[in-house]
Amino acid sequence: MVHIEIARAASKSPQPKTMVVFVRKSGNKTEAIGADRDMAPVLASIEEDGLTHGDLKKGLFLRSVGENQNQNVLFVGIDEKTKTLEDVRKLAATVCQCLKANKVREASVIVDGLMKSFKDVSGVAQAYAEGTLLAAREFETFKTKKSDKDDNGKGETAAKSKKEIKLEKLHLVLDKKTNAANFNKGLEVGRTLAEVVNLARDLGDTPGNLMTPEKLANAAVEHAKGTKLKVTVWDKARIKKERMGGLLGVSLGSAVDPRFIILEYNGGAKSKKPVCFVGKGLTFDSGGISIKPSGGMEEMKFDKCGGVNVICTLLAIARLKLKINAIGLVPATENMPGPLANKPGDILVARNGKTVEVDNTDAEGRLILMDALSYASELKPAAIFDAATLTGACVVALGNTHTGVFTRDEKVRKNVSEAADVSGEWVWAMPICDHHVTDMKGTYADLNNISSFKGAGASTAAAFLEQFVDKDIPWAHFDIAGTGWHVGNRLNYCARKGASGVMIRTFVELAKIYS
Ligand code: BES
Ligand code: ZN
Ligand code: ZN
Repeated sequence: MVHIEIARAASKSPQPKTMVVFVRKSGNKTEAIGADRDMAPVLASIEEDGLTHGDLKKGLFLRSVGENQNQNVLFVGIDEKTKTLEDVRKLAATVCQCLKANKVREASVIVDGLMKSFKDVSGVAQAYAEGTLLAAREFETFKTKKSDKDDNGKGETAAKSKKEIKLEKLHLVLDKKTNAANFNKGLEVGRTLAEVVNLARDLGDTPGNLMTPEKLANAAVEHAKGTKLKVTVWDKARIKKERMGGLLGVSLGSAVDPRFIILEYNGGAKSKKPVCFVGKGLTFDSGGISIKPSGGMEEMKFDKCGGVNVICTLLAIARLKLKINAIGLVPATENMPGPLANKPGDILVARNGKTVEVDNTDAEGRLILMDALSYASELKPAAIFDAATLTGACVVALGNTHTGVFTRDEKVRKNVSEAADVSGEWVWAMPICDHHVTDMKGTYADLNNISSFKGAGASTAAAFLEQFVDKDIPWAHFDIAGTGWHVGNRLNYCARKGASGVMIRTFVELAKIYS
């Protein structure tokens, strides 16, 4: 974990050997923002070398330059397009990655230049902390340590002979005009959010054998300790008693039992309705009897990311001590083709009494969500938001850039887009209308779990979910099938492989709006 703290410009305390300076094109010259004038000769020589501003945007690390030639300097280019908080996140990630690549343990960053383009000092601090900590994350839980396997026979290990250098500390240098208290507040919020998103990524990346429904529930209980979050876990018998026929039905093909995880946080007035988040917690989706092809099936360990991200949303709300009431609901199970598994044609009864014909056992997410959404509706919340890696169709439609958002409520759509503007996460409004509902009408039961027509698979899935939400409760469904993992090819603060923790930061913003 990289430690981030504030430093004051011109402070007498010893400076780290490495300094990070943001540079900008100003006329023909390259200007080092906020740094001392001694940078001018170095910048001039960079220009003589013909480096463009574009090169500098990726970062240029120079050893033994600066004052008395005893400093390392990382130059990172910014331009007039660097003006949103998302740009700050990406910039912070670039800095972090360059420092890591150059094996820097500690550095000071002259952040004042950034501040000039923004009014909101704490917002910049928050975004900077988020970008750094999200980019710094490494997931090596399941790799044996170098020291365990690289013993050279003399009792010396590779780790001992060549000590691994990790980025440990960043000093963000502010000038006298910047309000340090505000900046610190932002840093703290950013740190908390990045930590829970990184936790969500760790939980998401953990494979099915090590992250069963029971283990996921235990993780929620463990991480809630020390916060005001109350976690209740229902086992299989309770799920049955609660008439959750979808969750129970999907779990039957598996040797491990399902769980229903309830997270409650009461930080607001008793009179205030809670906002409710629901997440698909499929700890492994083999497809069941309608089994998936083997190529890439390992990715279906990520089918729990909606649930994981809801758990982490509640953790974030609790750790930030927001003055709101919120509830998280996570139905968790495996989808396996064991002897008792759902067979195509089987009929299940949802908690709200509606019957569903399971014509494809791989369309299981909606079956566990139907019970969770029915339960959510009974709680009469201010709004319901669900996140699910629900359909391959959404990946086809939106790729891994945008999360598909489905709602018929214009106000909800507007609020979602406002929340996502703050978080920087990309969402895209997708259609949901009566035609999609008609397509899901059942032949032998009230509903079918797959559409009777080809196409619009993400919309028909959303229309199915809608049948379990009370009409008067504002609701939006977030299909994160494309954005739940492997989004690092477009976002430098996400790993190229692995869970992203998407929508946690948007959901925290939504919770604020609906409280
Ligand atoms: N978990 C999958 C959806 C998915 C697929 C997420 C690929 C990410 C990448 C879901 O349970 C599923 O299998 N859905 C089916 C539904 C279909 C049978 C109607 C799908 O999308 O193919
Ligand atoms: Zn499936
Ligand atoms: Zn699934």
